[in-house]
Amino acid sequence: MKKLFLLCCLSALLCACGNSQTSSVPAPRLVGGPCEGCEAIFEFGNTPLHSIDTLPGFEEAGQKIKVSGRVYQQDGKTPAAGVILYVYQTNEAGIYENKYKQTNWESRHGYIRAWLKTGPDGRYAFYTLKPGSYPQRTTPAHIHLTVLEPDGKYYWLESYHFKGDPLLSPAEIAPDAPRGGSTGLLDLQQQDGLWVGSRDIILGKHIPAYR
Ligand SMILES: [Fe+2]
Repeated sequence: MKKLFLLCCLSALLCACGNSQTSSVPAPRLVGGPCEGCEAIFEFGNTPLHSIDTLPGFEEAGQKIKVSGRVYQQDGKTPAAGVILYVYQTNEAGIYENKYKQTNWESRHGYIRAWLKTGPDGRYAFYTLKPGSYPQRTTPAHIHLTVLEPDGKYYWLESYHFKGDPLLSPAEIAPDAPRGGSTGLLDLQQQDGLWVGSRDIILGKHIPAYR
């Protein structure tokens, strides 16, 4: 009887732990309007995420760049930790190359993609090859960006662009209300054999219906 009582207690405890774990995982919630493909931000699965990463293909020939920055809370001052950033881009020919014949979002976004997670200081950085513009050359070269906050909110931000790209529109160069508080226009500077650019992000800034 005593054993049975202990077993019941143990089961109740395990059950309670399980419930608390389940309830601590925030439900994903898309904010800031429609976003086709934003759900790809969840495709990292069980892969451990870091604040610094290198996108696939970096070892190939091309213009090597480093993009870094800091993510802040809504006050624009407090570093935001645990924020996941999903970036994806074309190759140098402007193609979203599904190199490994994947059937998930990689089939649309291509294999040059990565997920980063900000540390306690809110910082992030990634290394990649500068993408090319689409073959039709009507769209400037860009790197897409989606954000996932620790409470489950996720939304798209302005793409990273490159200063001096002749295909940039005035709105891309200087948007009225850039989502995330920055245009994403990178002014690349040469530094230790790399082209380096930076962009800070303010969570929720100019994101409609953000709450
Ligand atoms: Fe694109």
